[in-house]
Amino acid sequence: MRKVLVTGGAGFIGSHFIRHILTQHDGYEVVNLDKLTYAGNPDNLLDIEGGPLAKRYRFVKGDICDPELVGQLIGEVDAVVNFAAESHVDRSLLEPAPFIQTDVYGTYCLLSAVAEASGRIERVLHISTDEVYGEVPAPRRSKEDDPLHPRSPYSASKAGGDMQCIAFIEIHRLPVVIARPCNNIGPNQYPEKMAPLFISNALDDQPLPVYGDGRQVRDWLFVKDNCEALDLLLHGGARGEVYNVGAGNERPNMDVVEGILDLLGKPRSLIRFVEDRPGHDRRYALDFEKIRALGWSPRHDFAASLEKTVAWYVDNRQWWEKIKSGAFRAYYEKQYGARLASARSAPPANA
Ligand code: NAD
Ligand code: TYD
Repeated sequence: MRKVLVTGGAGFIGSHFIRHILTQHDGYEVVNLDKLTYAGNPDNLLDIEGGPLAKRYRFVKGDICDPELVGQLIGEVDAVVNFAAESHVDRSLLEPAPFIQTDVYGTYCLLSAVAEASGRIERVLHISTDEVYGEVPAPRRSKEDDPLHPRSPYSASKAGGDMQCIAFIEIHRLPVVIARPCNNIGPNQYPEKMAPLFISNALDDQPLPVYGDGRQVRDWLFVKDNCEALDLLLHGGARGEVYNVGAGNERPNMDVVEGILDLLGKPRSLIRFVEDRPGHDRRYALDFEKIRALGWSPRHDFAASLEKTVAWYVDNRQWWEKIKSGAFRAYYEKQYGARLASARSAPPANA
């Protein structure tokens, strides 16, 4: 494997993955196909474009739903890693269509182009999510062969992408591996997701809008650990297999919120309990013994992941201020305006 097509590489995880691949694999080349939606940010790759790795990196602005462009790029590479997606649950509740378009149809377009490349592509690594399993009650952890119970337009679309992969594995014997990581945390995450939204709001002494009672549980994986796992799956995952990528850092949201405030020395009075997200999954938790058996385990515990993340947002104010001063404002008002107007300073009693 020498040349990899990474889709969605201008986003959060994809940009870290590109940096990881170029620094860890001498001689590898990366083509980054990204539509530059609101979440795609060329600033995430400035160090690569302006540095010594630039000669092994090429950016192509385009859509994974464009069969002609995708076919042409597949013709140039040996492997594909598909990060491109609409990725935010709350936006999927406001406007689901782009999720179905990119996360289902876009995945289909990529797989079709690989099928047409007549066995030339060595590996397709498709990035799915733990959310396709739906919520899982404690003490259970989702396993790779569990049924899928998505409940949001985002998770339903991601599950649709996984099903496309499974069909292409069966019918065309494509060398696809599906990764299902848990919630990532780290530098360069668009500040619509909980951690970067709350860190940046707290730095500006703005309220932190906690949905419902804040007792929902997520497993938090440091993004660089995820990149190591995905690298392993790209090179060593078995064809047609699914691999959960968990961290073992399951925490209720309130632990994340309070951890952020404590690290920043900000008061708990910034916390606001707001109207819950419809269909809010109560708990995600992954059994990730299968990837552990390949030799991977996360390097960062919860405290280290949060500390490094908070420190990055403190040190890179200009990165998130640029985003938050633009179109983000209209989204924030739509998503949080009425919620914050009727917010409470204590969790709802009936939760
Ligand atoms: P992100 O929203 O930060 O980035 C998505 C990128 O995809 C953006 O650069 C965007 O411009 C690009 N994109 C969107 N539609 C496109 C299209 N039609 N064609 C080409 N590019 C397009 O997302 P992220 O958080 O980096 O997530 C990356 C992948 O990992 C997604 O597939 C997501 O479902 C999955 N995932 C994310 C998490 C997480 O915690 N962030 C956890 C598990 C799985
Ligand atoms: P998020 O970062 O959107 O990731 P996901 O929904 O994909 O897990 O949300 C993480 C958790 O934080 C989730 O339980 C929803 C909650 N949350 C809030 O309480 N308030 C917010 O403003 C956001 C964005 C999320």
